Amino acid sequence: MNNFEFYNPVKILFGEGQIENISKELAPYKTILLTYGGGSIKRNGVYEKVMSALKGKTIIEFGGIEPNPRYETLIKAVELARQTNVDFILAVGGGSVIDGSKFIAAAIPFNDEPWNIVSKGIKVEKAIPLGTVLTLPATGSEMNAGAVISRFETKEKFAFGSPAVFPKFSVLDPTVTYSLPQRQVVNGIVDAFAHVLEQYLTYPVNAHIQDRFAEGILKTLIEVGPKTLKNSNDYELRANFMWSCTMALNGLIATGVPTDWATHMIGHELTALFGLDHAVTLAIVYPALLKIVFEEKKEKLRQYAIRVWEFPDEEIAALKAIDRTEQFFRELGIKTRLPEHRISFEDIKPIIDRFAKRGWKLGENKSITSDVVEQILKKAL
Ligand code: NZQ
Ligand code: ZN
Repeated sequence: MNNFEFYNPVKILFGEGQIENISKELAPYKTILLTYGGGSIKRNGVYEKVMSALKGKTIIEFGGIEPNPRYETLIKAVELARQTNVDFILAVGGGSVIDGSKFIAAAIPFNDEPWNIVSKGIKVEKAIPLGTVLTLPATGSEMNAGAVISRFETKEKFAFGSPAVFPKFSVLDPTVTYSLPQRQVVNGIVDAFAHVLEQYLTYPVNAHIQDRFAEGILKTLIEVGPKTLKNSNDYELRANFMWSCTMALNGLIATGVPTDWATHMIGHELTALFGLDHAVTLAIVYPALLKIVFEEKKEKLRQYAIRVWEFPDEEIAALKAIDRTEQFFRELGIKTRLPEHRISFEDIKPIIDRFAKRGWKLGENKSITSDVVEQILKKAL
């Protein structure tokens, strides 16, 4: 097992009715910036519950944070918050609202151009404290210190991270997910599944606990995912789905193991250039990537095949696991090939150029250069 430091200060308030308890968490704060997305919280009753928990506070509302949150939108919230002396940000929504709010929190006290936080990876030392009410289990943003921000003007999408933007608390009430459209539930299952794979499907380092945790989350998503798609109001299914997604990316399973993240990096470009949902990009890239870097991953792939998919212990199990993964994504209803999304090889050339220009070397072995990205995307055709 590799050396590691592990720090996660996010307080989780899990279960039905927990929204009302945010009033206790907010006791020290006066002026709250309430951030949300395109209005789902006003249709499913979450907004009323949050407002009732915020009684007595000065509330500054900022709605309209879009999926794949845009710098151009978020910067308006930064100006508003600076003018109104906001001392806390409450993000109510999915990964996009939470990520966007982390950017707002970091940008408010930032003295330079805030886009540099994202594009140049400038270290964020301080941020306005924030909390979240999660409405879409998927990204794990509610319990991690990362965020992914897009710039519409330049069609760019980059991640940034800092312990300063760990939420102070996150409310996970499974009942608020009952109103999710099927497409977003599918996205959540696939995104969380890919998060676990990015931290598990690398090479063995004798990290038995981390492997068993990762396999447990994968097996739970395989078991609960398709069921919760069919039964949107089943509390126990939604509770297990929700906690699986949070556990998939709160840092725990990344301790002491190599991590990959190449699929995410390539996927971000597909969203930036073609607007595909984040999870859809992962379902396209992952099976193709596993085929191209098979030799580097075959030991863990075999372990994954046997322990997660319960295949017999044989040499071909590793290869079979790749097909089974793609089939799982397809059974959930995601199209896993680029042409199915009307994307051709000509269309993806700018992605290869971008990786070449950036000189990125991705993956657990830093072996995924722009040439390998090209092979991966060709495999996804
Ligand atoms: O905007 P509203 O009206 O709220 O509607 C949203 C949005 O249209 C809707 N929705 C959310 N909760 C709902 C609901 N509709 C009905 N009922 C509810 N309870 O769902 C749509 C999608 O929301 P979004 O927040 O965009 O989805 P998701 O949570 O999948 O977040 C995706 C973003 O997170 C980033 C992605 O890149 C993408 O930008 N990621 C963030 C990560 C992180 N911070 O650690 C890691 C991930 O890998 C990912 O990259
Ligand atoms: Zn993701």
